Amino acid sequence: MTASLALEAARRRTFAIISHPDAGKTTLTEHLLLAGDAIRQAGAVRARGEARRTRSDWMKIEKERGISVSASVMTFEHEGLQFNLLDTPGHEDFSEDTYRTLTAADAAVMVLDAAKGIEPQTLKLFEVCRLRDIPIITFINKMDREALDPFALLDEIGSKLALDPAPLYWPAGSGNRFRGVIDLREQAFQPYTRSGDAEAPVKLGSNAMARVLQPDEQEEVEEGAELVMGASKPFDPQSFLEGHMTPVLFGSALRHFGVNELLGVLGAYAPPPKTVAVTRAGIETHVAPGDAEVTGFVFKVQANMDPNHRDRIAFVSLCSGKFERGMKLKVQNTGRQLSVHNPMLFLASDRELAEEAFAGDVIGIPNHGVLRVGDSLSETGAVRFAGLPNFAPEILRRVRVKDPLKAKHLKRALDGLAEEGVTQLFRPMIGADFIVGAVGQLQFEVMADRLSNEFQLEVIFEPSPYAEARWISGAKADLEDFMGKHRPQMAQDIDEAPVFLGKTAWEVGYVADRYPKVAFLKTRERG
Ligand code: G4P
Repeated sequence: MTASLALEAARRRTFAIISHPDAGKTTLTEHLLLAGDAIRQAGAVRARGEARRTRSDWMKIEKERGISVSASVMTFEHEGLQFNLLDTPGHEDFSEDTYRTLTAADAAVMVLDAAKGIEPQTLKLFEVCRLRDIPIITFINKMDREALDPFALLDEIGSKLALDPAPLYWPAGSGNRFRGVIDLREQAFQPYTRSGDAEAPVKLGSNAMARVLQPDEQEEVEEGAELVMGASKPFDPQSFLEGHMTPVLFGSALRHFGVNELLGVLGAYAPPPKTVAVTRAGIETHVAPGDAEVTGFVFKVQANMDPNHRDRIAFVSLCSGKFERGMKLKVQNTGRQLSVHNPMLFLASDRELAEEAFAGDVIGIPNHGVLRVGDSLSETGAVRFAGLPNFAPEILRRVRVKDPLKAKHLKRALDGLAEEGVTQLFRPMIGADFIVGAVGQLQFEVMADRLSNEFQLEVIFEPSPYAEARWISGAKADLEDFMGKHRPQMAQDIDEAPVFLGKTAWEVGYVADRYPKVAFLKTRERG
């Protein structure tokens, strides 16, 4: 363990923002970058997003898949800490990559629209965080608009997410009556300004309070704060790290209110990169951020946005050591060695060549398909991280090739794409169908495009009789009994793991109730 390596890792906070479309993720990202001096003015991130959407001369699919490489990770410094903000594509870009990106995050900020509370996509992303025990900070946004009652919002977090909300701040009003927040730890009032220029906090109970609040407002907010402190559990950093509790902040990303406080909470409580379980030459062990050997894993692969270049960029989450440009790294499963001469580090302004990077950082490695999602990289080539999980797809389609003579090619191509993590492939045990699954519609378009361009296969996606896929696990005899009775609905995934295909979620629930000894899983870690 090297002290300076451990120190570098300890000052890093690698996090993602999860939210439902329109809750304010882009706006918050922008204001975090502003606070970190990484951009000069609000609008930069959005403008780039729009430029992306309007540049119609890009090859269509590249544009759709693009999601701007440089915005995939944004790095900025603030008060001695380095923040790495991982972009989790939302909206129509929603895909398995969105989920996988969370595997590289040490913490997540959950943005809720104060008028809407928890929405469906927040819930989906939250479930992935829970699965990986990622601690979550809640930012209740848009307080400058009419909001739901803050107590109701806390209740919703408690009941829908089974997470203890621990407010660190408490709002005084909302919309036109939004006056600011009480810092419950400091017992001070932070006045809200529309301009975004921060005013100095005022001690509760001091005479200066009369300057910032009317007497009735003051009474109301102080009563509310007292009530919430009595009613909610006090913030416990350990419980937060274990994923049982979420600190809650209230603010307005658009008005840059509560953004510095959010950075403060991330800096104080979000964990630095952690020690990770690995196998080394087949033996179970750990990799710590301060270990000398450079190790990391690929969590995402993206095609180059420039259609003239067929290379891909593999996003590698570093887990230990000091990475230096020009370094040689080995891929564990294939034994191939890469000289990493042109790695990219993602500063918010643009991409730059990475000279050095540490645990918690993400580097982009351009390559021609040598690196795949889930690959483990290290100097010795002996370290293997647990495989990245596959998530039960939400859309299933039967795929057919237009030219029946090419059925064999189709199998090989689909295997390759599933191996790469573009989509999932299920082979029913009976019949010759190929069923492909994805969590977002866009994945099918990417797939059709790549099948056509790279394999010269024109395919048709047809509705599948199935809507749900679950990996099954249990004792051998129980599995065999279950599979024997449900053969027409059984399939295998790319690793030949058994999968039950259900016509509806209701059917999966019904079958699961009747076979309590068989587990029906929504994720599977690839070994
Ligand atoms: P997303 O990335 O989560 O989809 O949300 P985004 O930041 O794009 O925000 C969605 C809309 O909500 C935007 O308005 C944005 O300006 C607004 N918004 C975000 N944060 C706040 C906030 O704290 N207060 C208020 N009042 N509005 C907020 P839009 O009209 O869709 O876009 P635009 O015309 O402002 O660009």
